[in-house]
Amino acid sequence: MRTLLLLLSLMIVQPVWGMDVPDADSPAARVFAERCSACHALPHPKRLDWPHWQHMLRVMKQRMEERGMAMTTEEWRTVADYLRAHAR
Ligand code: HEC
Repeated sequence: MRTLLLLLSLMIVQPVWGMDVPDADSPAARVFAERCSACHALPHPKRLDWPHWQHMLRVMKQRMEERGMAMTTEEWRTVADYLRAHAR
């Protein structure tokens, strides 16, 4: 929990906004930027390696479902592929 709070506050101090991501002009980057900045600053893909992204994506899926803003299967695939390609 502590680590999460620390990470969250780091995110607030150093937000990585929409277009400062790899391949910013690609449709995948746009889906990622739109869907993953709704509740907090957009996390940079290099923040985590792919195994950690896989875990985080599962948690985020749940958070989004809790708020009635689940992504479509297509959007999930797009975001997951994007993160796998650009992970740390
Ligand atoms: C419905 C709101 C919501 C959306 C949309 C959302 N998140 Fe989150 N995110 C949270 C919450 C709340 C936390 C705090 C940790 C927790 O509650 O599990 C969090 C924490 C995180 C963290 C951990 C903190 C950190 O900086 O390491 C990462 C990474 C993250 N989200 C990535 C994503 C990605 C990628 C997406 C898009 C697929 C996304 N989030 C979409 C609510 C959301």
